[in-house]
Amino acid sequence: MAAKQQVECVKEGNYIRVPKGLVNVIVDETKISGVDPKGEATIYRGYTIEDIGEHASFYEATHLILYGRLPCDEELKEIKAKIDKYRGMVPEKIFDALKYVPATHPMYYGIYGVSLLGQYYAPDWRFDEDFLYDHALRVTAQLPVIFAAGWHLARNGTFYRPDPTKDHAWDVLRMIIGREPSEIEARAFESTLVLYMDHGFNASTFTVRVIASTLSDLYSAIAGGIAALKGPLHGGANEKAMEMFLEAQQKAEAKGVPLYEYIEEYIKEKLAKKEKIMGFGHRIYKLHDPRTDVAKKYVEKLKNGDYWMKVIKKAEEVMWNEKKIPANIDLYTGVLYYQLDIPIPMYTPIFAMGRVVGWSAHYIEQVLNNKLIRPTEKYVGPTGLKYVPLEERCKK
Ligand code: SDX
Repeated sequence: MAAKQQVECVKEGNYIRVPKGLVNVIVDETKISGVDPKGEATIYRGYTIEDIGEHASFYEATHLILYGRLPCDEELKEIKAKIDKYRGMVPEKIFDALKYVPATHPMYYGIYGVSLLGQYYAPDWRFDEDFLYDHALRVTAQLPVIFAAGWHLARNGTFYRPDPTKDHAWDVLRMIIGREPSEIEARAFESTLVLYMDHGFNASTFTVRVIASTLSDLYSAIAGGIAALKGPLHGGANEKAMEMFLEAQQKAEAKGVPLYEYIEEYIKEKLAKKEKIMGFGHRIYKLHDPRTDVAKKYVEKLKNGDYWMKVIKKAEEVMWNEKKIPANIDLYTGVLYYQLDIPIPMYTPIFAMGRVVGWSAHYIEQVLNNKLIRPTEKYVGPTGLKYVPLEERCKK
């Protein structure tokens, strides 16, 4: 029987005991983004996330998250020029290194590749703002190239080189799927990068801030963020959600019924076995994830949109009726990336291609107003034991 979950903060002598998982614990302030439990006012630097997700380009949203304001035309030209230039400047030896990685989960290529970037760019790390923002733009531009190149190099020894003359989102999607995306495909993909860009103190962002607080470099912090995002309770859910729909589709076909009818039975079976349904639930959103409103509009516009929206809506209906749990962004992006012909294991790397901007902004905010993040613990193990030599301590 799991120990009863502590839900309140409790003073214990000079210490404060907080709930496991830091549930509802405010650990610091930030001006970058805030997540509204009601899902009505999740904020990106003063704007709602759905407003920016719907209307902003990747360059505009990156400028907003990093610098705190939407760019004017000169600033927009400058940030676009830098991101596009840096996208084409990944050190060649990194592609050579990626030739020898095994065909494993591509999140490892990001952890490995960004660590290699750190070896090139971070030996003499500094904390002046121009230096920090320049590396934030470098890693924003180059991480997608590393993920896409790693995916193709590990599987067939070749990859699609970046084209710095093209728009960032369009070029990144092309490098992943190996064909030129249509305008609506590129815009749908770009909007998910913007929607994924930041989200308060989620697990991977908090990981980045802990690493930043030790005054390590940005590339090391991003490697930690990618490692945290890989977990299915956090970033990995978009892959699992699509795998779930495809498994259910196979079973529905075997039964000769449409998926949108069968999905109810399928979900209820999993819930009966106490399994979690990926793409549903959230630590903060208990009613609605506003990002789904924007992602939904693109699912409807992409191929088989009506079919997938019927399935998603039915799944949402079942989860609300059974558990009062709403869908989160990953349910929609899982379907959207499938509609874009993206290989399923690349879904979470794409989450990282957007979140790298937020991670970079939080890294900079942390180091410019830093206090080492080091909580304490309540030791509840044995005490008073004394060392006993092997021959005495393991007597049969
Ligand atoms: C994102 O933090 C962020 O901001 C994340 C994110 C971001 O942008 O960074 O927004 C990204 O949204 C991804 C979240 C993707 N993860 C998933 O879709 C995985 C499935 N979701 C769950 O694992 C869960 O909802 C969490 C981990 C996301 C949040 O869970 P909490 O807050 O830790 O709560 P919990 O796991 O204790 O669940 C409370 C109850 C439990 O039931 P009881 O044991 O009390 O009976 O709700 C149940 C859970 O079993 N529950 C679910 C469920 N989510 C919660 N039951 C079935 N399916 C689910 N998805």
